[in-house]
Amino acid sequence: MRTGTRAAIAERHLRTDRWWLAPAGTAFGLFAFIVYSTWRAFANADYYHAPYVSPFYSPCLAESCEQMQGGPNWALFGEWWPLSPALIILIFPLGFRLTCYYYRKAYYRSFWASPPACAVAEPHKSYSGETRFPLILQNLHRYFFYAAVLVAVILTWDTVLGFRNADYEWGHMGLGTVVFLVNIVLIWAYTISCHSCRHIVGGRLKHFSKHPVRYRMWSVVGRLNARHMQLAWASLLSVGLADLYVYLLATGAITDLQLF
Ligand code: FES
Repeated sequence: MRTGTRAAIAERHLRTDRWWLAPAGTAFGLFAFIVYSTWRAFANADYYHAPYVSPFYSPCLAESCEQMQGGPNWALFGEWWPLSPALIILIFPLGFRLTCYYYRKAYYRSFWASPPACAVAEPHKSYSGETRFPLILQNLHRYFFYAAVLVAVILTWDTVLGFRNADYEWGHMGLGTVVFLVNIVLIWAYTISCHSCRHIVGGRLKHFSKHPVRYRMWSVVGRLNARHMQLAWASLLSVGLADLYVYLLATGAITDLQLF
């Protein structure tokens, strides 16, 4: 920010490196995912091919899911949603990622240029941080964390169901099972590496020595937390690829390679 209390340097910044590369690459990656996921969420089609259900559409709450033979409907949640089931499911992972500390940094820099990079002045005239509406809603992140854990549990069960063949017989594995396995490992790693999770397991303690279990959990989460950005991107890519794999199967573009 240019204010009267700052040094009167005329240049917008003094950086000589290609500082714009990272925010530009981030903007491109996020924009590509937004376009793809919006198209898929509104498609309301080609999200199931036995035994796989797209992670964008699980649990399938739509009435139409019930009509699929052996389909992905979760009776536990009922079938009461008349539109694309993805539109209600995606609120939770979307809210989790939108309010994530890493993604905030990513889109504040790449979409809002606030600031675009370290030591590069931002174009806005004032700065209120996250103290006002709507950015004060970023504080909801800790609650989205709990929702994200529930979503990860559901996707874990979907992965278990992938150990069946197209006739719903157990003890089989296809390439799709591997795709789902990789995805769920990355989803859990990203979810557990969350800063809120780190605080939940190890925060507000005065003596780690009196809480050895929580200390150990905090140490594991801390190590993952150091890789939070990489896990954010890897899990975003894997969830998109898992959906794409189901889409390609459902449209008949490919067949699932059976491993055993
Ligand atoms: Fe990124 Fe919580 S801080 S998911």
